[in-house]
Amino acid sequence: MWGGRFAEGPAAVMRAINASIPFDKRLWRQDIAGSKAHVMMLGAQGIVSVEDAAAIDAGLDRVAAEYAANGVPEDLALEDIHMQTEARVAEAIGPVAGRLHTARSRNDQVATDFKLWVRDATDEVLAALEGFGAALLVRAEQHAADVMPGFTHLQSAQPVTLGHHIMAYHEMIARDVGRFRDARARANLCPLGSAALAGTGFPIDRHATAAALGFDGPTRNSLDGVSDRDFAIEYLTCATQCALHLSRLAEEFVLWASQPFGFVALSDQWSTGSSIMPQKRNPDAAELVRGHSGRIMGCLTSLMVTMKALPLAYSKDMQDDKPPVFEAHDLLALSIAAMTGMVESATFRVDRMRALAESGYATATDLADWLVREAGLPFREAHHVTGRAVKRAEELGVALHAVPLADLQRLDARIDERVYGVLSIDASVASRTSFGGTAPANVRAAIVVARGETA
Ligand code: ARG
Repeated sequence: MWGGRFAEGPAAVMRAINASIPFDKRLWRQDIAGSKAHVMMLGAQGIVSVEDAAAIDAGLDRVAAEYAANGVPEDLALEDIHMQTEARVAEAIGPVAGRLHTARSRNDQVATDFKLWVRDATDEVLAALEGFGAALLVRAEQHAADVMPGFTHLQSAQPVTLGHHIMAYHEMIARDVGRFRDARARANLCPLGSAALAGTGFPIDRHATAAALGFDGPTRNSLDGVSDRDFAIEYLTCATQCALHLSRLAEEFVLWASQPFGFVALSDQWSTGSSIMPQKRNPDAAELVRGHSGRIMGCLTSLMVTMKALPLAYSKDMQDDKPPVFEAHDLLALSIAAMTGMVESATFRVDRMRALAESGYATATDLADWLVREAGLPFREAHHVTGRAVKRAEELGVALHAVPLADLQRLDARIDERVYGVLSIDASVASRTSFGGTAPANVRAAIVVARGETA
């Protein structure tokens, strides 16, 4: 394709280091779509004849059908998907195929293909996140009033509802959806027609090709058009942030599925056995989601380091932009699907959660608040009295709500029997009605709002 001024072919290693076809063949659908838009525009503008444009367009369809049926051949001599496709079209329809590459370069071609691919990948992730979000809402609704220990420092802190805990993840996912949408909107300008770097003297219509490919318009600067990979980096930042959220939920599944916690039983479909310990049910999928998040982060780092300090416009380093994006996308798609399956099918052990919430003196703050509200103590003093009440409960080996009134009154005479109204964990969570609080009523209201936002 470019051998005109060369007397010798490339060395075998040169060929091997130069070729991107082993991975960029994944762009074939986008490459065909970009070429079809380009050649139809060339015909409409009179840059090639309408007949030649139609012949090339038909050739592209033929090659697309071949790729769909048999896969893309991996000929290292043809370097990349762009040359591979052009060569196949030429075999199929003859030398007229040589007119396809008029007024474009592989530089604007690959930028366009890759942007189209990332856009499709974004849409795929958005659809998957919608399903995941819906699964979270179903489980949150089911467990809106079930009480569990809430943790800080992984120490039992205050009772919360499981529904509230699940809805915290829904918040993260809703932000992820927003981020992916923002990134998609910002990226939706078409580089095609930037040519090698400077634009072209041919009377091309960049608005027409941009519209044909579903972009909002053409990119505004040809140098930026061929050298910008922000869209790929943004995809990876969104993916990293999302994977990070998934890793936190995955970690909770791992912890919660352990015997000491016993908060969740993963379904058979989402557990694996041990080859040596027959009693084991391992949360491998959750562990892998946790692990994959690290790899996705690595992909972001990889592309940022590739792009760092590259001068304008195109440099061959940029060919390395694709593998990390492909890898991260595959890992993220799997991770979202796996977490969706686990969330849908897990059994939450609400009895166990309740028992632990009751045993951890988790309503100590409620007692302190009651002393402030009903007995008029300053909070610091109430905190102190409550600390002594917890100590007494420990001595007696009972939960806070089982400490006899006489014992509590010995700590502070202003305490009366109404205090038991706040010492139960149900009363505690029901009282947390401040905006964003854990009360079952709040959780149900938050689910209604979330459903409205997704719809
Ligand atoms: N395979 C190349 C890539 O992915 C296509 C662009 C090559 N452009 C060039 N001038 N050699 O980046």
